[in-house]
Parts: sequence; C-alpha cells; structure tokens
Amino acid sequence: MDQYRTGPTTPRLIHRAMTGADAESFFVLNSTPEVMRYTGEPPLESVEQARDAIEQHPDFRTNGFGRWGCFLRKDDPASGARAGDLIGFCGLKHLDDLNEVDVGFRFLPAHWRKGYATEAARASLAFGFETLGLGRIIALVLPENGASVRVLEKIGMSLVGREDCDGLDALRYEITRG
Ligand SMILES: CC(C)(COP(=O)(O)OP(=O)(O)OC[C@H]1O[C@@H](n2cnc3c(N)ncnc32)[C@H](O)[C@@H]1OP(=O)(O)O)[C@@H](O)C(=O)NCCC(=O)NCCS
Repeated sequence: MDQYRTGPTTPRLIHRAMTGADAESFFVLNSTPEVMRYTGEPPLESVEQARDAIEQHPDFRTNGFGRWGCFLRKDDPASGARAGDLIGFCGLKHLDDLNEVDVGFRFLPAHWRKGYATEAARASLAFGFETLGLGRIIALVLPENGASVRVLEKIGMSLVGREDCDGLDALRYEITRG
C-alpha cells in the first residue's frame, strides 16, 4: 500500500500526500472559517492537532490513495504565494460506509475562483479511472455550497440524489468511466 502518495502534476499544481512538515499550512487551511463552513467538520484548533491528523490519517496506508496536498508549481505574484506552497487539498477517498470512492477538495480563499479546484478535481477523476480502474466516482456536497456544486458540474458529474453525510443532508453527484 502507500503506492499513490505522489499524484498527478497539472499545469499549475503538484499533488502529493502531506507529511508532518505541512502541518502549519494544513492547520491554516482547516481552521479558516470560510473554508470549513460547508464541510461538516469542526475547524482544527492547533498545529499539533493538524500534525496528528496528517500523520495518523489511514487512507494512503489502507487504500494506497487519499486526498493529496495541492502545491503551487510556480510563484503566484497575485496572492504572494510561492512555488511549493500548499494552497489546498484534493483527491479521492474510499468511503467505507457507502463502499464508494469520492472526490473532495478544499482550497485557501486567496486562491478561490482561479480554477484550481476544477484543475485538481479533473486530474483526480482521471487518476481514479485510468490508474485505479474505478468504474464510478461520487461526490457529496451540501446544496448551499454553490462553488463546490459548480466545480462538480464543470468536471462532468451529475446530480443523482441525496445522501446522509454524517447527519447532514447532502447532494450525491456521480460520474462513471467514459
Ligand atoms: C469549493 C472550492 C474548493 C472551489 O474552489 P475554486 O478553486 O474556487 O474553484 P474553481 O475556481 O475551479 O471553480 C469555482 C466555480 O464556482 C463558481 N462559484 C464561486 N462561488 C460560487 C457561489 N457562491 N455560488 C455559485 N457558484 C460559485 C465560480 O464562479 C466558478 O465557476 P465558473 O468557472 O463557471 O465561473 C472552494 O470554494 C473551497 O475551498 N471552499 C471551501 C471548502 C469546501 O466547501 N469544499 C467542498 C466541500 S464538498
């Protein structure tokens, strides 16, 4: 297992599994209220908690794949971010409850509306179909999360119904291998 810690490289992003060295950036991402608003998860409270969350996360060990950190390939003068900075995460996760694989993403607000989530999520779908050989990938999103719904539409996913997501009434999107 652990074989897919390095993910796709896209025009602007490198994808790789996060490590303890990314804890500070991961903490900023996951403690920003606008980022956490529709995720159904409580914000992280400390860098230590972020480090534990990364280091104890079982997905890569258990399934070989998981959500990757999204790192800039080049400096971005508009936001002041530098090459190598973590600006979000994106990737696939096996949902044991549903026995499905879902695509998920989260980016820092300074980088919203620049197409990063679309770029990363498209690459995740291609990885799922071409490398993992999946037949179907799903996504769960709260209906009020307009930006996330839009990304799912842009990457070709279709609304198929609703799904309980840790007690929240989420929309279920799907895409099957073309
Ligand atoms: C969802 C999220 C990842 C989108 O990231 P992003 O990099 O800004 O996405 P993109 O730029 O690729 O595309 C965003 C699209 O949504 C649109 N959009 C942005 N805000 C919107 C809103 N409130 N309502 C409807 N559409 C919206 C943008 O205009 C764009 O569509 P367009 O290209 O047709 O103009 C980002 O908003 C985020 O991190 N949100 C917090 C975390 C989160 O909710 N994750 C998803 C959990 S299911």
